[in-house]
This record gives sequence, structure tokens and C-alpha cells, in this order.
Amino acid sequence: MKILCLQGSARKKGNTARVLGWVEEELAGLGHEVESIYLSGKNLNGCLGCAACKDQSDEVGCPQNDDIPEILGKMVKAQAVVFASPLYFWGVTAQLKAVIDRTYSLYTRYHEPNHASLVEGQRQALLVTGGGGWDNNAGETFTAFSRIQKPHKAVHAGELFIGNCTTPANLGEDVKNQAVEFARKIVD
Ligand SMILES: Cc1cc2nc3c(=O)[nH]c(=O)nc-3n(C[C@H](O)[C@H](O)[C@H](O)COP(=O)(O)O)c2cc1C
Repeated sequence: MKILCLQGSARKKGNTARVLGWVEEELAGLGHEVESIYLSGKNLNGCLGCAACKDQSDEVGCPQNDDIPEILGKMVKAQAVVFASPLYFWGVTAQLKAVIDRTYSLYTRYHEPNHASLVEGQRQALLVTGGGGWDNNAGETFTAFSRIQKPHKAVHAGELFIGNCTTPANLGEDVKNQAVEFARKIVD
């Protein structure tokens, strides 16, 4: 399976990177082709809501000239996508949110019976790390993510929240095991 990982943390050696590293290692070990994109190094604009993309149904129709159309192109070719982010104010980071918003250009005729999506059937999973616990903190982010699969016509393939994070060095064997289990579920 071709798997794209979108790393939404600016911290290259932070908590999210450490957990995602274990996920990628497991996926590669299972024989999958894994590509990871460090979003913070990219030129990412927000969606303009211009709806120019809605004239296209067979290609990424976003007219913006930044790095996101290329990322979306890779997303279209992937059988699975892992969205990874630290929790920032009860949501994902601005970097990952910019990409998610621009996936608006991956589908057409939403709300019509013949709604089309360039990522139909794709397996999508969310990994989030946070300084706090789950309660009154992380749930909304996972709810929002689980709604994205409907316009995308994608498959919700897994979710993992690692809460009460301090430093990456403190993420031990228990978290690694959760990462491995999450990875296996993505390709199940
Ligand atoms: C701007 C900002 C906002 C944050 N908001 C939250 C939050 O709402 N809930 C939470 O649990 N942690 C929050 N945190 C903590 C981070 O999510 C946590 O430290 C995370 O593991 C950092 O991941 P990273 O090392 O990959 O950057 C916030 C951190 C920052 C810098």
C-alpha cells in the first residue's frame, strides 16, 4: 500500500514526530511504501473558498500556487493517509488544518447523489499528541476528523490520542505499543 503521512508539528523531534516515527517504522516493516511530509517546511496557504475547484471532477482543481496542490496530488495517489498533529487549542495545528481545508478541492457535487471524490475508498487515520488528557480536551478534534471521511468518501481507518505528553524521551514502550497497534489497524 502507498501510505502518505502528513506531519503537522513544527517540532521535528517532538512528541508527534516520535510517535509517528514508530507508526512509519511499523508500516514500512510490514512492506508498505511510506512517504512522510513535514508540513512546517512547506508554503501553505489557507483555502480561499473561491470554489474554482468545483468545476473539476477528475483532477486537483485548486488554482492556488503554493505547495498544497502537490501534497494533494500525492494524497490522491495514496491508498492510506495518516494525519498527525499536536493538539493546539482543541484542534490540529494551522499547518495541518491548511491542508485539510484545501482537500475541499478533492471532491465535487457534495449533497448530490452523484457526489465524486478523488480519494474515494482511501483509508484515513488521525494521530494526535497533547499535553493534557482526553477529557474536555481532545474529543472534538477526533469528532471533526471522523466527519471528513463523508465528503472524501474515505474510510476511517484509525485514531490514536497520546495525552499527558511531556518530553519525547518520556514516551516509552507503552506508547510505542499503541503506535504499532494503530499502524496495523490502518492497513488492516
Ligand atoms: C500553541 C499550543 C497550544 C496547545 N494547546 C493544547 C491543547 O489545547 N490541549 C493539549 O492537550 N495540549 C495543548 N498543547 C500542548 C501540545 O499539544 C503537546 O505538548 C504536544 O505533545 C506537542 O507536540 P509536538 O512535540 O509534536 O509539538 C499546546 C501547545 C501549544 C504550543
